[in-house]
Amino acid sequence: MANLAVNVAGVSFKNPIIPASGVFGYGREYEKLFPLSELGGIATKGTTGQPRPGNPAPRIAETPSGMLNSVGLQNPGIDAFLERELPNLLTKDTVILANIAGSTVEECVSIAEKLDETDVHMIELNISCPNVKKGGAAFGVHCESAEMITAAVRKATKKPLIVKLSPNVTSITDIAKAVESAGADSVSLINTLLGMRINIENRRPILRNNVGGMSGPAVFPIAVRMVWQVAQAVSIPVIGMGGVSSGTDAIEMMMAGASAVQIGAAIFTDPYAPVRIISEMNDWLDAHHIASVQEIIGTVQPW
Ligand code: FUM
Repeated sequence: MANLAVNVAGVSFKNPIIPASGVFGYGREYEKLFPLSELGGIATKGTTGQPRPGNPAPRIAETPSGMLNSVGLQNPGIDAFLERELPNLLTKDTVILANIAGSTVEECVSIAEKLDETDVHMIELNISCPNVKKGGAAFGVHCESAEMITAAVRKATKKPLIVKLSPNVTSITDIAKAVESAGADSVSLINTLLGMRINIENRRPILRNNVGGMSGPAVFPIAVRMVWQVAQAVSIPVIGMGGVSSGTDAIEMMMAGASAVQIGAAIFTDPYAPVRIISEMNDWLDAHHIASVQEIIGTVQPW
């Protein structure tokens, strides 16, 4: 057995694999399938100040080797999260990353202050949701606003702070450097790529929101490229995500520079994907006589 343990921003993970925010709820359905303690961590669904019903349906559309979603941050709100979900998650012997997705700076700060009072292990600030009219990607596509909201949340909490970045930008390295300068302890990337499908029979967009975020295996090469670029541009650890479907994908993402890897759309086609990927990573490391997964981080050798 290879040693799969990694460290991100001072937090120890037993392995690098984390179901991404929004694909795993709060783990309740999945704990019927496997012990959540097998996971490196869990990123929870983006939390807002008040409950949100999300966008009207249809809000999922299939694409070649991927999917579009326009969920619209459906969630029960921070108070219900703190009362009903976080206490259960904290018993699971895995790192809990609470994802904040407020639509104003004040809302994000207020949620961060509430989380700061809890035993949650890390905060992931989502400045990249493409499916809401206020907040989300509106914060994450300009260096100034990304820096401003990161600095405000940084002041509100001592928890390790990850900022989740949008790929829908001209230069993701500039945004990464901006949030690093504002006090982020880590960055996670990539959130989904903005996309659209049309039903040609009725000439209507398939998604009721018209557009949505694309994820799945088709975006993997884009994610690897952005993780590689960001890992070279910043000194803080990078958490990679985007189309990771196998242990070898996760190894590739780590060679690009990721210290840990989030799993998104793959969970919709295989609910066991996170534990399968952990096992496949171990098999690859053993086959290559690599004792610790940490040895591969950022080891790609560009031509
Ligand atoms: O629409 C959603 O709930 C997606 C959120 C995100 O991509 O951050």
